Amino acid sequence: MKNSESTAELTSDLQTQPVVIRKVFICQNGDCTEKDRARALYERLLELRAAAGLDDPDASGYFKCNLSGCLNVCRDGPILVVQPDQILYRCPTENDLDRIFVDHLLGGRPIPDLFTRRKDS
Ligand code: FES
Repeated sequence: MKNSESTAELTSDLQTQPVVIRKVFICQNGDCTEKDRARALYERLLELRAAAGLDDPDASGYFKCNLSGCLNVCRDGPILVVQPDQILYRCPTENDLDRIFVDHLLGGRPIPDLFTRRKDS
């Protein structure tokens, strides 16, 4: 049957595509912002992830979240990076984090007006 062949092909294609798990690193080094603000942002992101049911590593859309050392921006923080997309964000407000969560982490659409750069680039 054509439908089952198509389904089998699609299933086979999906099984051969690598699963990309995004990782978010939030700088807590203390120069781009106060360490408490970085930790609060990290905890807020964990809450958003759990509320969306994405804290299960088997969930589609699961992403990792960690506090990190300096991301070499060192201003306008908190600063976070989304990997493997290699996008550095400044995230000064909770609303900015909500936008990064909804648009980028859920929707796959980066947010250019929150992009920032390493201080040596
Ligand atoms: S101290 Fe946070 S990016 Fe350098």
